[in-house]
Amino acid sequence: MSHFADRRSRSLWMEVAVAPNAAPLQGDKECDVVVVGSGIAGISTAYELAIQGSRVMVIDRGDIAGGITARTTAHLGSPCDDLISAMIGLRGEVLSRLFHESQAAAINRIEAVQNKESIDCDFRRLDGYLFQALNTDSKIIEDELDAARKVGAPVHRLVGVPFSHCEQQHVLRYPRQGTFHPLKYLKGLAAIIEAKGGTFHAGTVVESIEERDDGKVVVSTGGGKVVARAAVVATNSPIVDRFALHTKMAPYRTYAMALSIRKGALPDALYWDTLDPYHYVRLQPGEDRTDYLIVGGEDHKSGEADDAEMRFQALEAWTRNLIPAAQEVTHRWSGQVLETIDYAGFIGKNPGSNNIYVHTGDSGQGMTHGVAGAMINAALILGRDAKWTEVYAPSRKTPAALGNFLKENVTPVKSFAEYLAPGELNSVSDLKTGHGAVIRQGLNKIAAYRDSSGKLYTRSAACTHIGCHLHWNSFETCWDCPCHGSHFAFDGTALNAPATSPLAEVDIEDQP
Ligand SMILES: Cc1cc2nc3c(=O)[nH]c(=O)nc-3n(C[C@H](O)[C@H](O)[C@H](O)COP(=O)(O)OP(=O)(O)OC[C@H]3O[C@@H](n4cnc5c(N)ncnc54)[C@H](O)[C@@H]3O)c2cc1C
Ligand code: FES
Repeated sequence: MSHFADRRSRSLWMEVAVAPNAAPLQGDKECDVVVVGSGIAGISTAYELAIQGSRVMVIDRGDIAGGITARTTAHLGSPCDDLISAMIGLRGEVLSRLFHESQAAAINRIEAVQNKESIDCDFRRLDGYLFQALNTDSKIIEDELDAARKVGAPVHRLVGVPFSHCEQQHVLRYPRQGTFHPLKYLKGLAAIIEAKGGTFHAGTVVESIEERDDGKVVVSTGGGKVVARAAVVATNSPIVDRFALHTKMAPYRTYAMALSIRKGALPDALYWDTLDPYHYVRLQPGEDRTDYLIVGGEDHKSGEADDAEMRFQALEAWTRNLIPAAQEVTHRWSGQVLETIDYAGFIGKNPGSNNIYVHTGDSGQGMTHGVAGAMINAALILGRDAKWTEVYAPSRKTPAALGNFLKENVTPVKSFAEYLAPGELNSVSDLKTGHGAVIRQGLNKIAAYRDSSGKLYTRSAACTHIGCHLHWNSFETCWDCPCHGSHFAFDGTALNAPATSPLAEVDIEDQP
Protein backbone atom coordinates (compact mmCIF):
# COMPACT_ATOMS: atom_id res chain seq x y z
CA MET A 1 0.00 0.00 0.00
CA SER A 2 1.28 3.45 -0.81
CA HIS A 3 1.74 5.74 2.18
CA PHE A 4 0.40 8.60 0.09
CA ALA A 5 -3.37 8.58 -0.41
CA ASP A 6 -3.11 10.12 -3.85
CA ARG A 7 -0.52 11.38 -6.33
CA ARG A 8 -1.37 15.07 -6.31
CA SER A 9 2.11 15.87 -5.08
CA ARG A 10 4.53 14.82 -7.79
CA SER A 11 7.88 16.39 -8.66
CA LEU A 12 9.54 16.45 -12.06
CA TRP A 13 12.25 14.05 -10.88
CA MET A 14 10.22 11.19 -9.40
CA GLU A 15 10.02 9.21 -12.65
CA VAL A 16 13.73 8.29 -12.34
CA ALA A 17 14.40 5.27 -10.12
CA VAL A 18 17.75 5.23 -8.26
CA ALA A 19 19.16 1.78 -7.38
CA PRO A 20 15.73 0.23 -8.15
CA ASN A 21 16.85 -3.28 -7.17
CA ALA A 22 17.74 -2.32 -3.61
CA ALA A 23 16.10 -4.87 -1.27
CA PRO A 24 15.41 -4.60 2.47
CA LEU A 25 18.30 -5.62 4.73
CA GLN A 26 18.07 -9.21 5.90
CA GLY A 27 20.46 -10.65 8.46
CA ASP A 28 23.52 -9.17 10.17
CA LYS A 29 26.26 -7.58 8.04
CA GLU A 30 29.61 -5.84 8.32
CA CYS A 31 31.13 -3.07 6.27
CA ASP A 32 33.59 -0.19 6.63
CA VAL A 33 31.08 2.63 6.65
CA VAL A 34 27.29 2.47 6.90
CA VAL A 35 25.43 5.47 5.55
CA VAL A 36 21.90 5.97 6.87
CA GLY A 37 19.79 7.95 4.42
CA SER A 38 20.02 7.91 0.64
CA GLY A 39 19.42 11.52 -0.43
CA ILE A 40 22.00 13.77 -2.04
CA ALA A 41 23.97 13.83 1.24
CA GLY A 42 24.03 10.07 1.86
CA ILE A 43 24.71 8.93 -1.70
CA SER A 44 27.38 11.60 -2.27
CA THR A 45 29.12 10.53 0.95
CA ALA A 46 28.95 6.86 -0.05
CA TYR A 47 30.44 7.77 -3.45
CA GLU A 48 33.36 9.75 -1.95
CA LEU A 49 34.16 6.80 0.32
CA ALA A 50 33.64 4.04 -2.27
CA ILE A 51 36.04 5.62 -4.78
CA GLN A 52 38.66 5.64 -2.00
CA GLY A 53 38.22 1.88 -1.50
CA SER A 54 35.83 1.79 1.48
CA ARG A 55 33.17 -0.94 1.61
CA VAL A 56 29.98 1.07 2.03
CA MET A 57 26.39 0.19 2.74
CA VAL A 58 23.55 2.68 2.25
CA ILE A 59 20.31 2.09 4.14
CA ASP A 60 17.01 3.91 3.63
CA ARG A 61 13.58 3.46 5.15
CA GLY A 62 11.91 4.21 1.80
CA ASP A 63 12.96 4.07 -1.83
CA ILE A 64 16.56 5.05 -2.58
CA ALA A 65 16.68 8.85 -3.11
CA GLY A 66 12.94 9.01 -2.39
CA GLY A 67 13.16 11.58 0.43
CA ILE A 68 13.38 15.37 0.23
CA THR A 69 15.95 15.09 -2.56
CA ALA A 70 13.16 13.85 -4.86
CA ARG A 71 11.30 17.09 -4.02
CA THR A 72 14.06 19.62 -4.62
CA THR A 73 14.29 22.17 -7.42
CA ALA A 74 18.08 21.65 -7.68
CA HIS A 75 19.49 25.13 -8.08
CA LEU A 76 23.22 24.82 -7.51
CA GLY A 77 24.01 28.19 -5.98
CA SER A 78 27.04 29.35 -4.03
CA PRO A 79 25.77 32.55 -2.30
CA CYS A 80 24.15 31.92 1.10
CA ASP A 81 20.41 31.73 0.36
CA ASP A 82 19.59 33.45 3.66
CA LEU A 83 21.67 36.35 2.28
CA ILE A 84 25.43 36.72 2.58
CA SER A 85 25.01 39.97 4.53
CA ALA A 86 22.89 38.12 7.14
CA MET A 87 25.48 35.36 7.46
CA ILE A 88 28.30 37.87 7.93
CA GLY A 89 26.24 39.50 10.68
CA LEU A 90 26.08 36.19 12.57
CA ARG A 91 29.39 34.52 11.75
CA GLY A 92 31.76 37.21 10.53
CA GLU A 93 33.60 37.59 7.24
CA VAL A 94 36.16 34.79 7.61
CA LEU A 95 33.67 31.97 8.18
CA SER A 96 31.23 33.43 5.62
CA ARG A 97 34.04 33.43 3.06
CA LEU A 98 34.76 29.75 3.83
CA PHE A 99 31.05 28.95 3.58
CA HIS A 100 30.91 30.51 0.14
CA GLU A 101 34.08 28.73 -0.93
CA SER A 102 32.66 25.34 0.16
CA GLN A 103 29.37 25.86 -1.69
CA ALA A 104 31.21 26.87 -4.87
CA ALA A 105 33.49 23.83 -4.44
CA ALA A 106 30.39 21.60 -4.31
CA ILE A 107 29.25 22.86 -7.72
CA ASN A 108 32.77 22.22 -9.06
CA ARG A 109 32.64 18.72 -7.57
CA ILE A 110 29.30 17.88 -9.23
CA GLU A 111 30.62 19.16 -12.55
CA ALA A 112 33.83 17.13 -12.23
CA VAL A 113 32.07 13.92 -11.12
CA GLN A 114 29.41 13.93 -13.85
CA ASN A 115 32.18 14.53 -16.39
CA LYS A 116 34.52 11.85 -15.05
CA GLU A 117 31.79 9.24 -14.59
CA SER A 118 29.93 10.21 -17.80
CA ILE A 119 26.63 10.77 -15.98
CA ASP A 120 23.98 12.21 -18.28
CA CYS A 121 22.16 14.46 -15.78
CA ASP A 122 21.45 17.72 -17.67
CA PHE A 123 24.21 19.52 -15.73
CA ARG A 124 24.74 23.10 -16.89
CA ARG A 125 26.83 26.03 -15.73
CA LEU A 126 24.73 29.18 -15.79
CA ASP A 127 24.34 32.61 -14.23
CA GLY A 128 22.39 33.20 -11.03
CA TYR A 129 20.36 36.42 -10.71
CA LEU A 130 19.27 37.82 -7.36
CA PHE A 131 16.70 40.48 -8.24
CA GLN A 132 14.90 43.20 -6.31
CA ALA A 133 11.33 42.00 -5.66
CA LEU A 134 8.52 44.19 -7.03
CA ASN A 135 7.40 46.99 -4.71
CA THR A 136 10.46 46.75 -2.47
CA ASP A 137 13.44 49.08 -2.25
CA SER A 138 16.90 48.16 -3.50
CA LYS A 139 18.69 48.20 -0.15
CA ILE A 140 19.07 44.39 0.01
CA ILE A 141 20.80 44.47 -3.35
CA GLU A 142 23.22 47.21 -2.14
CA ASP A 143 23.97 45.26 1.05
CA GLU A 144 24.40 41.97 -0.79
CA LEU A 145 26.80 43.50 -3.30
CA ASP A 146 28.96 44.74 -0.46
CA ALA A 147 28.72 41.39 1.36
CA ALA A 148 29.44 39.32 -1.77
CA ARG A 149 32.63 41.31 -2.35
CA LYS A 150 33.66 40.79 1.27
CA VAL A 151 33.44 36.98 0.94
CA GLY A 152 35.16 36.95 -2.45
CA ALA A 153 32.10 35.88 -4.46
CA PRO A 154 32.38 36.92 -8.12
CA VAL A 155 29.44 39.30 -8.64
CA HIS A 156 28.21 41.92 -11.12
CA ARG A 157 25.63 44.61 -10.58
CA LEU A 158 22.97 45.05 -13.31
CA VAL A 159 19.59 46.59 -13.93
CA GLY A 160 16.72 44.34 -15.05
CA VAL A 161 16.03 40.62 -15.46
CA PRO A 162 14.09 39.25 -18.48
CA PHE A 163 10.77 39.11 -16.60
CA SER A 164 7.78 41.41 -17.13
CA HIS A 165 7.73 44.47 -14.84
CA CYS A 166 11.35 43.83 -13.89
CA GLU A 167 13.17 45.92 -16.50
CA GLN A 168 14.21 48.52 -13.89
CA GLN A 169 14.77 46.22 -10.92
CA HIS A 170 18.21 46.17 -9.29
CA VAL A 171 19.99 42.87 -9.82
CA LEU A 172 23.14 40.97 -8.83
CA ARG A 173 24.54 38.44 -11.29
CA TYR A 174 26.58 35.58 -9.87
CA PRO A 175 28.45 33.78 -12.68
CA ARG A 176 29.29 30.03 -12.79
CA GLN A 177 26.36 28.71 -10.79
CA GLY A 178 24.80 25.42 -11.89
CA THR A 179 21.81 23.15 -12.20
CA PHE A 180 21.05 19.50 -13.02
CA HIS A 181 18.53 16.67 -12.78
CA PRO A 182 19.21 15.48 -9.22
CA LEU A 183 17.88 11.94 -9.56
CA LYS A 184 19.65 11.25 -12.85
CA TYR A 185 22.87 12.36 -11.11
CA LEU A 186 22.25 10.13 -8.08
CA LYS A 187 21.28 7.20 -10.29
CA GLY A 188 24.71 7.54 -11.91
CA LEU A 189 26.50 7.71 -8.55
CA ALA A 190 24.57 4.72 -7.21
CA ALA A 191 25.62 2.59 -10.19
CA ILE A 192 29.29 3.45 -9.55
CA ILE A 193 28.98 2.73 -5.82
CA GLU A 194 27.47 -0.68 -6.65
CA ALA A 195 30.20 -1.36 -9.21
CA LYS A 196 32.75 -0.74 -6.45
CA GLY A 197 31.08 -3.30 -4.18
CA GLY A 198 28.81 -0.97 -2.22
CA THR A 199 25.26 -2.05 -1.43
CA PHE A 200 21.90 -0.31 -1.08
CA HIS A 201 19.05 -1.42 1.17
CA ALA A 202 15.67 0.23 0.67
CA GLY A 203 12.58 -0.27 2.85
CA THR A 204 14.76 -0.64 5.95
CA VAL A 205 14.06 1.57 8.97
CA VAL A 206 17.12 2.23 11.13
CA GLU A 207 15.88 2.07 14.71
CA SER A 208 19.08 2.89 16.61
CA ILE A 209 22.77 3.67 16.13
CA GLU A 210 25.17 2.91 18.96
CA GLU A 211 28.90 2.84 19.58
CA ARG A 212 30.44 -0.26 21.19
CA ASP A 213 33.37 -0.18 23.63
CA ASP A 214 35.69 -1.38 20.84
CA GLY A 215 34.80 1.76 18.83
CA LYS A 216 32.67 -0.08 16.25
CA VAL A 217 29.26 1.32 15.39
CA VAL A 218 26.16 -0.88 15.47
CA VAL A 219 23.19 0.13 13.32
CA SER A 220 20.02 -1.78 14.23
CA THR A 221 17.10 -2.34 11.87
CA GLY A 222 14.09 -4.63 11.94
CA GLY A 223 15.86 -6.90 9.41
CA GLY A 224 19.26 -7.18 11.13
CA LYS A 225 22.26 -5.28 12.47
CA VAL A 226 25.15 -3.70 10.60
CA VAL A 227 28.52 -3.41 12.34
CA ALA A 228 30.87 -0.83 10.82
CA ARG A 229 33.94 1.25 11.57
CA ALA A 230 31.89 4.43 11.16
CA ALA A 231 28.32 5.54 10.48
CA VAL A 232 27.10 8.62 8.68
CA VAL A 233 23.62 9.79 9.65
CA ALA A 234 22.29 11.57 6.56
CA THR A 235 18.60 11.26 7.38
CA ASN A 236 17.91 14.95 6.60
CA SER A 237 16.85 15.54 10.22
CA PRO A 238 19.15 13.49 12.48
CA ILE A 239 17.89 10.36 14.23
CA VAL A 240 20.86 10.16 16.64
CA ASP A 241 20.28 13.34 18.53
CA ARG A 242 17.23 14.15 20.63
CA PHE A 243 17.95 17.78 21.51
CA ALA A 244 21.41 19.26 20.85
CA LEU A 245 21.08 19.80 17.09
CA HIS A 246 17.30 20.02 16.94
CA THR A 247 17.16 23.15 19.10
CA LYS A 248 19.48 24.90 16.62
CA MET A 249 17.31 24.43 13.51
CA ALA A 250 13.68 24.50 12.41
CA PRO A 251 11.61 22.84 9.65
CA TYR A 252 9.95 24.94 6.93
CA ARG A 253 7.64 23.64 4.18
CA THR A 254 8.22 25.08 0.71
CA TYR A 255 6.11 24.71 -2.46
CA ALA A 256 7.16 24.15 -6.05
CA MET A 257 5.46 23.76 -9.41
CA ALA A 258 6.49 23.11 -13.01
CA LEU A 259 4.83 24.77 -16.01
CA SER A 260 5.53 24.13 -19.65
CA ILE A 261 7.24 26.92 -21.56
CA ARG A 262 8.36 27.31 -25.17
CA LYS A 263 12.09 26.60 -25.58
CA GLY A 264 14.03 29.86 -25.74
CA ALA A 265 11.26 31.94 -24.13
CA LEU A 266 13.48 32.64 -21.12
CA PRO A 267 17.30 32.62 -20.85
CA ASP A 268 18.54 29.49 -19.04
CA ALA A 269 19.60 30.82 -15.63
CA LEU A 270 18.79 30.68 -11.93
CA TYR A 271 16.60 33.51 -10.65
CA TRP A 272 15.54 34.33 -7.09
CA ASP A 273 14.11 37.49 -5.54
CA THR A 274 14.78 39.46 -2.36
CA LEU A 275 11.56 38.57 -0.51
CA ASP A 276 11.55 36.46 2.64
CA PRO A 277 10.47 33.79 1.82
CA TYR A 278 11.95 34.24 -1.63
CA HIS A 279 10.66 33.03 -5.01
CA TYR A 280 13.04 30.78 -6.99
CA VAL A 281 12.94 30.03 -10.72
CA ARG A 282 14.86 27.79 -13.15
CA LEU A 283 14.36 25.82 -16.36
CA GLN A 284 14.58 22.08 -17.01
CA PRO A 285 14.96 20.74 -20.57
CA GLY A 286 11.83 19.04 -21.91
CA GLU A 287 11.00 17.18 -25.10
CA ASP A 288 10.61 18.69 -28.57
CA ARG A 289 9.90 22.41 -28.42
CA THR A 290 8.91 22.71 -24.79
CA ASP A 291 10.90 23.08 -21.57
CA TYR A 292 9.74 23.12 -17.97
CA LEU A 293 9.70 26.32 -15.99
CA ILE A 294 10.15 25.45 -12.30
CA VAL A 295 9.09 27.99 -9.69
CA GLY A 296 9.05 27.74 -5.92
CA GLY A 297 8.39 29.68 -2.74
CA GLU A 298 5.48 30.46 -0.37
CA ASP A 299 7.34 28.81 2.55
CA HIS A 300 5.93 28.57 6.07
CA LYS A 301 6.99 26.84 9.23
CA SER A 302 6.05 23.15 8.98
CA GLY A 303 2.69 22.23 10.41
CA GLU A 304 1.62 25.87 10.87
CA ALA A 305 -0.59 26.13 7.77
CA ASP A 306 -2.75 23.73 5.76
CA ASP A 307 -3.56 25.95 2.79
CA ALA A 308 -1.46 24.53 -0.05
CA GLU A 309 -4.11 25.38 -2.67
CA MET A 310 -3.89 29.07 -1.79
CA ARG A 311 -0.11 28.95 -1.83
CA PHE A 312 -0.04 27.30 -5.27
CA GLN A 313 -2.53 29.89 -6.55
CA ALA A 314 -0.29 32.69 -5.23
CA LEU A 315 2.78 31.08 -6.79
CA GLU A 316 1.04 30.64 -10.13
CA ALA A 317 -0.27 34.24 -10.10
CA TRP A 318 3.23 35.54 -9.31
CA THR A 319 4.64 33.44 -12.16
CA ARG A 320 2.07 34.51 -14.76
CA ASN A 321 2.55 38.17 -13.83
CA LEU A 322 6.33 38.04 -14.26
CA ILE A 323 6.63 35.30 -16.91
CA PRO A 324 3.58 35.48 -19.22
CA ALA A 325 5.19 32.87 -21.50
CA ALA A 326 4.46 30.22 -18.84
CA GLN A 327 1.91 27.71 -20.18
CA GLU A 328 0.01 24.97 -18.31
CA VAL A 329 0.94 23.63 -14.90
CA THR A 330 2.32 20.10 -15.24
CA HIS A 331 3.54 19.25 -11.72
CA ARG A 332 2.98 20.51 -8.18
CA TRP A 333 4.75 19.36 -5.05
CA SER A 334 6.01 20.47 -1.66
CA GLY A 335 8.78 19.47 0.70
CA GLN A 336 10.67 20.56 3.74
CA VAL A 337 13.92 22.41 4.39
CA LEU A 338 15.70 22.65 7.73
CA GLU A 339 16.86 26.16 8.54
CA THR A 340 19.66 26.46 11.09
CA ILE A 341 19.81 29.49 13.34
CA ASP A 342 23.11 30.66 11.78
CA TYR A 343 22.45 29.58 8.14
CA ALA A 344 25.09 26.83 7.71
CA GLY A 345 24.37 23.10 8.05
CA PHE A 346 25.69 20.78 10.76
CA ILE A 347 28.25 18.46 9.23
CA GLY A 348 30.95 16.42 10.98
CA LYS A 349 31.31 14.29 14.06
CA ASN A 350 28.08 13.92 16.03
CA PRO A 351 28.52 15.72 19.38
CA GLY A 352 29.57 13.12 21.99
CA SER A 353 30.37 10.35 19.46
CA ASN A 354 33.70 9.02 18.18
CA ASN A 355 32.68 7.32 14.97
CA ILE A 356 29.22 8.63 14.19
CA TYR A 357 29.02 11.54 11.75
CA VAL A 358 26.01 13.70 10.93
CA HIS A 359 24.77 15.77 8.03
CA THR A 360 21.78 18.05 8.52
CA GLY A 361 20.41 21.60 8.44
CA ASP A 362 21.06 22.38 4.82
CA SER A 363 18.39 25.03 4.33
CA GLY A 364 17.42 25.84 0.73
CA GLN A 365 20.92 24.84 -0.35
CA GLY A 366 20.74 21.13 0.31
CA MET A 367 22.21 20.12 -3.04
CA THR A 368 25.48 21.98 -2.51
CA HIS A 369 25.45 21.27 1.24
CA GLY A 370 24.99 17.57 0.44
CA VAL A 371 28.04 17.46 -1.79
CA ALA A 372 30.26 19.73 0.36
CA GLY A 373 29.21 17.68 3.39
CA ALA A 374 30.11 14.44 1.61
CA MET A 375 33.62 15.79 1.01
CA ILE A 376 33.94 16.83 4.67
CA ASN A 377 32.59 13.66 6.28
CA ALA A 378 34.47 11.34 3.90
CA ALA A 379 37.77 13.14 4.66
CA LEU A 380 37.11 12.99 8.42
CA ILE A 381 36.33 9.26 8.26
CA LEU A 382 39.39 8.52 6.13
CA GLY A 383 41.61 10.57 8.48
CA ARG A 384 42.48 13.08 5.78
CA ASP A 385 42.62 16.85 5.94
CA ALA A 386 39.04 18.07 5.89
CA LYS A 387 38.34 21.61 4.79
CA TRP A 388 35.62 23.91 6.14
CA THR A 389 35.02 21.89 9.35
CA GLU A 390 34.84 25.06 11.45
CA VAL A 391 32.01 26.46 9.33
CA TYR A 392 29.82 23.37 9.76
CA ALA A 393 30.97 21.93 13.16
CA PRO A 394 27.84 20.36 14.74
CA SER A 395 29.02 21.35 18.24
CA ARG A 396 29.50 25.04 17.39
CA LYS A 397 27.88 27.83 19.33
CA THR A 398 26.81 31.07 17.62
CA PRO A 399 25.98 33.63 20.34
CA ALA A 400 24.99 36.23 17.72
CA ALA A 401 22.17 33.89 16.60
CA LEU A 402 20.43 33.97 20.01
CA GLY A 403 17.47 35.87 18.52
CA ASN A 404 16.88 33.14 15.92
CA PHE A 405 17.36 30.46 18.60
CA LEU A 406 14.67 31.97 20.82
CA LYS A 407 12.29 32.55 17.89
CA GLU A 408 12.50 28.93 16.71
CA ASN A 409 12.33 27.36 20.17
CA VAL A 410 8.98 28.93 20.96
CA THR A 411 7.46 26.31 18.63
CA PRO A 412 7.75 23.28 20.98
CA VAL A 413 6.29 25.36 23.83
CA LYS A 414 3.32 26.37 21.67
CA SER A 415 2.99 22.80 20.40
CA PHE A 416 2.73 21.22 23.87
CA ALA A 417 0.21 23.90 24.89
CA GLU A 418 -2.04 22.68 22.06
CA TYR A 419 -2.78 19.49 24.00
CA LEU A 420 -4.98 21.63 26.26
CA ALA A 421 -7.03 23.01 23.36
CA PRO A 422 -10.25 21.37 22.05
CA GLY A 423 -10.10 19.05 19.01
CA GLU A 424 -10.78 20.32 15.49
CA LEU A 425 -13.90 18.11 15.34
CA ASN A 426 -16.12 16.85 18.15
CA SER A 427 -16.11 13.24 16.98
CA VAL A 428 -14.82 10.97 14.21
CA SER A 429 -18.36 10.67 12.88
CA ASP A 430 -17.97 14.29 11.69
CA LEU A 431 -14.89 13.38 9.63
CA LYS A 432 -15.59 13.42 5.89
CA THR A 433 -13.95 11.00 3.45
CA GLY A 434 -10.51 12.14 2.27
CA HIS A 435 -10.06 14.38 5.30
CA GLY A 436 -7.83 14.34 8.38
CA ALA A 437 -8.42 16.13 11.69
CA VAL A 438 -7.33 16.11 15.31
CA ILE A 439 -10.00 14.94 17.75
CA ARG A 440 -9.95 15.03 21.54
CA GLN A 441 -10.52 11.74 23.40
CA GLY A 442 -10.45 12.41 27.15
CA LEU A 443 -6.97 13.77 27.91
CA ASN A 444 -5.53 12.58 24.59
CA LYS A 445 -5.50 13.98 21.07
CA ILE A 446 -6.22 11.61 18.17
CA ALA A 447 -4.92 12.03 14.60
CA ALA A 448 -7.87 10.74 12.54
CA TYR A 449 -8.05 10.22 8.76
CA ARG A 450 -10.88 8.76 6.68
CA ASP A 451 -9.87 7.46 3.26
CA SER A 452 -11.94 7.70 0.08
CA SER A 453 -13.62 4.34 0.80
CA GLY A 454 -14.67 5.52 4.27
CA LYS A 455 -12.07 3.51 6.20
CA LEU A 456 -11.03 5.30 9.39
CA TYR A 457 -7.43 5.47 10.67
CA THR A 458 -6.99 6.67 14.26
CA ARG A 459 -3.54 7.24 15.73
CA SER A 460 -2.09 9.23 18.59
CA ALA A 461 -1.50 12.87 17.57
CA ALA A 462 1.74 12.89 19.59
CA CYS A 463 4.87 12.80 17.45
CA THR A 464 7.03 9.78 18.31
CA HIS A 465 10.20 11.91 18.41
CA ILE A 466 9.57 13.87 21.63
CA GLY A 467 5.80 14.24 21.61
CA CYS A 468 4.92 17.52 19.87
CA HIS A 469 1.33 17.92 18.63
CA LEU A 470 0.87 16.95 14.95
CA HIS A 471 -1.06 18.85 12.28
CA TRP A 472 -2.84 17.51 9.19
CA ASN A 473 -1.40 18.37 5.76
CA SER A 474 -4.22 17.86 3.26
CA PHE A 475 -2.12 18.38 0.12
CA GLU A 476 0.48 15.73 1.07
CA THR A 477 -2.08 13.62 3.02
CA CYS A 478 0.27 13.30 5.94
CA TRP A 479 0.74 14.52 9.52
CA ASP A 480 3.42 17.22 9.94
CA CYS A 481 5.28 17.90 13.17
CA PRO A 482 6.04 21.61 13.65
CA CYS A 483 8.96 20.99 16.03
CA HIS A 484 11.79 19.13 14.26
CA GLY A 485 10.47 17.97 10.90
CA SER A 486 8.91 14.51 11.31
CA HIS A 487 6.12 13.56 8.90
CA PHE A 488 3.77 10.59 9.29
CA ALA A 489 1.56 8.95 6.69
CA PHE A 490 -2.21 8.84 7.24
CA ASP A 491 -1.76 5.32 8.67
CA GLY A 492 0.88 6.51 11.15
CA THR A 493 3.98 5.26 9.30
CA ALA A 494 6.96 7.55 9.94
CA LEU A 495 7.97 9.19 6.64
CA ASN A 496 10.50 11.80 7.61
CA ALA A 497 13.12 11.85 10.36
CA PRO A 498 13.82 12.41 13.21
CA ALA A 499 10.93 10.09 14.16
CA THR A 500 11.83 6.44 13.65
CA SER A 501 8.68 4.73 14.95
CA PRO A 502 5.07 4.91 13.77
CA LEU A 503 2.28 6.74 15.57
CA ALA A 504 0.60 4.66 18.28
CA GLU A 505 -2.69 3.05 17.20
CA VAL A 506 -5.77 4.18 19.12
CA ASP A 507 -9.12 2.40 19.29
CA ILE A 508 -12.06 4.70 18.78
CA GLU A 509 -15.69 3.88 18.02
CA ASP A 510 -16.70 4.89 14.51
CA GLN A 511 -20.36 5.70 13.86
CA PRO A 512 -20.33 7.33 10.43
C1 LIG B 1 10.63 22.30 -2.87
C2 LIG B 1 12.11 22.29 -2.50
C3 LIG B 1 13.00 23.01 -3.27
C4 LIG B 1 14.36 22.98 -2.96
N1 LIG B 1 15.21 23.62 -3.78
C5 LIG B 1 16.53 23.52 -3.58
C6 LIG B 1 17.44 24.06 -4.51
O1 LIG B 1 17.02 24.64 -5.50
N2 LIG B 1 18.76 23.94 -4.27
C7 LIG B 1 19.22 23.29 -3.18
O2 LIG B 1 20.45 23.21 -3.02
N3 LIG B 1 18.40 22.73 -2.27
C8 LIG B 1 17.06 22.83 -2.45
N4 LIG B 1 16.20 22.26 -1.56
C9 LIG B 1 16.74 21.57 -0.39
C10 LIG B 1 17.25 20.19 -0.75
O3 LIG B 1 16.40 19.57 -1.66
C11 LIG B 1 17.37 19.32 0.50
O4 LIG B 1 18.04 20.04 1.51
C12 LIG B 1 18.13 18.05 0.22
O5 LIG B 1 17.54 17.33 -0.83
C13 LIG B 1 18.19 17.18 1.46
O6 LIG B 1 18.93 16.03 1.14
P1 LIG B 1 19.26 14.97 2.26
O7 LIG B 1 20.12 13.94 1.65
O8 LIG B 1 19.79 15.67 3.47
O9 LIG B 1 17.86 14.41 2.73
P2 LIG B 1 16.81 13.36 2.01
O10 LIG B 1 16.84 13.47 0.54
O11 LIG B 1 15.53 13.55 2.70
O12 LIG B 1 17.45 11.98 2.41
C14 LIG B 1 17.33 11.48 3.71
C15 LIG B 1 16.91 10.02 3.62
O13 LIG B 1 16.98 9.46 4.94
C16 LIG B 1 15.99 8.46 5.00
N5 LIG B 1 15.71 8.16 6.43
C17 LIG B 1 15.17 8.99 7.35
N6 LIG B 1 15.05 8.34 8.53
C18 LIG B 1 15.52 7.08 8.34
C19 LIG B 1 15.64 5.94 9.19
N7 LIG B 1 15.27 5.95 10.49
N8 LIG B 1 16.14 4.79 8.65
C20 LIG B 1 16.52 4.75 7.34
N9 LIG B 1 16.42 5.82 6.50
C21 LIG B 1 15.94 6.96 7.00
C22 LIG B 1 14.81 9.08 4.28
O14 LIG B 1 13.91 8.07 3.84
C23 LIG B 1 15.48 9.83 3.15
O15 LIG B 1 15.46 9.12 1.93
C24 LIG B 1 14.83 22.26 -1.83
C25 LIG B 1 13.93 21.54 -1.05
C26 LIG B 1 12.58 21.55 -1.37
C27 LIG B 1 11.63 20.75 -0.53
S1 FES C 1 9.95 16.01 15.25
FE1 FES C 1 10.57 16.34 17.28
S2 FES C 1 8.71 16.19 18.38
FE2 FES C 1 8.13 15.85 16.34
